[in-house]
Amino acid sequence: MTTTPDHPVDDSRPRVLVCRGCCCGSEQKHPDVDHDEQIAEISSVARTRVVDCVDECTYSNVVVVRPRPGESVWFGRLNSAVLTRELRNWLDAGAPRPLPPILDVFSFEPRSRAATE
Ligand code: FES
Repeated sequence: MTTTPDHPVDDSRPRVLVCRGCCCGSEQKHPDVDHDEQIAEISSVARTRVVDCVDECTYSNVVVVRPRPGESVWFGRLNSAVLTRELRNWLDAGAPRPLPPILDVFSFEPRSRAATE
């Protein structure tokens, strides 16, 4: 399934880092995840950059959202089309707080924020 942006992905949209390191994006580790579709969905509504491992492999697939300057929200185990759609919808709404409950369950505090600093 290909998504169509609801609006241009301009500088006002949230920024997103999608990890595609040794574990995240691995078809061996997550064979049921359409990794390309996940990136397509996210990038349809947010400024998206694919990055290498962010040192939180136990949470793969990891996505880091920067809704606003100085703020980051880490999500792990985003391994289903339903979760990807929920993330897309939240991003499309401007990544408001509080997090939707289904996404809150998959948010976590990273051991190191070095990757997003
Ligand atoms: S490969 Fe994504 S956190 Fe390591």
